[in-house]
Amino acid sequence: MVLEAIRYGDGKLSIIDQLQLPFVERYIEISTSEGGWQAIKNMQVRGAPAIAIVAALSLASELHELSVQKKVPSNAEDVGTFIIERLKYLVSSRPTAVNLSDAARKLEAIVSERSQRSRSTAQDVVDAFIQAAEAMLAKDVEDNTRIGENGARWISANALSTEQHKAIVLTHCNTGSLATAGYGTALGVIRSLMSSDTLQHAYCTETRPYNQGSRLTAFELVHDKIPATLITDSMAAALLSRPGTRVNAIVVGADRVAANGDTANKIGTYGLAVLARYHGVKFLVAAPLTTIDLATKSGDEIVIEERPSLEVTKIKGLQDDNLTGDVILATVGIAAEGIDVWNPAFDVTPFALIDGIITEKGVAEKNAEGRFQLKELFD
Ligand code: MRU
Repeated sequence: MVLEAIRYGDGKLSIIDQLQLPFVERYIEISTSEGGWQAIKNMQVRGAPAIAIVAALSLASELHELSVQKKVPSNAEDVGTFIIERLKYLVSSRPTAVNLSDAARKLEAIVSERSQRSRSTAQDVVDAFIQAAEAMLAKDVEDNTRIGENGARWISANALSTEQHKAIVLTHCNTGSLATAGYGTALGVIRSLMSSDTLQHAYCTETRPYNQGSRLTAFELVHDKIPATLITDSMAAALLSRPGTRVNAIVVGADRVAANGDTANKIGTYGLAVLARYHGVKFLVAAPLTTIDLATKSGDEIVIEERPSLEVTKIKGLQDDNLTGDVILATVGIAAEGIDVWNPAFDVTPFALIDGIITEKGVAEKNAEGRFQLKELFD
């Protein structure tokens, strides 16, 4: 079975409810942009590429249904205005990942152009939007496969000693099939190392407070039978300094890469980059070009989403009911009542700590002056 975060066909969108994973595999249908906004905000779908695609397809689904019911605004201009307003609303769901606003900007350009063409009908505008949204789904999987291959090749060439043929890789958060349209970015690199028989072992962090690592990455690693070990976030330093375990590379995803290479990713990424530098381990960011935001000059300009304190003070898991023997999903408190909480969902890793940015176009490395030239990837 292929693990899919997103299922789409004939105007119908469903997503695996990531709040229930790894305990319950349940798909929920999303038929409106309102439903898409809620699923993104509530983290039923998460991961930068996945939220962009679900946003686009939720609106495609709504438009498909409006067309079937013949309720689409009657002229091309009105339908264009409606779509653009819905896109703005969808972008407001989560601020840090740039893929969502990048997708909205591209879709808006297509809709504006089509609605202003003379003789365009309202249905032409709807069809152009739906086609473009569907194409994003297919392109993300293609891009991830290339990212995986490029990253695996780079690691084999640059992170292994001459007598080593297989890599030990540590990853953080979830960047796999569940965070993208399929295959994954950083986890795609691990998948590609595995399929080319150059992976010795993968380590994944728990990724507090939301546990994307222990709930989702661990689930994908077990699902794909990849040799892997789970550690808590605080064990990373001990792992890197452990005699006999030579971690060759830390590979993470990204929610936004600024023009200078500063990278916003799941909270905890920056700490891993500092550890990697101290221990002489390669630190790599794997992300499609849609995650690189040339309009953001450096990490200082990136807005970091702060999430509810409940995500830190409570935790969800399986609980055995001693009386009935039933297993239920339960949320339990794990912090002292009344304590103040700070819960930034992401942090920014300065480009100086990053050895390479793995994209579908190749691996960007710093030049002799120690600077990334990311603009060249778009030429
Ligand atoms: O808050 P999340 O779960 O959406 O954060 C996800 C991450 O930080 C991922 O590492 C990032 O989006 C890359 S996904 C391919």
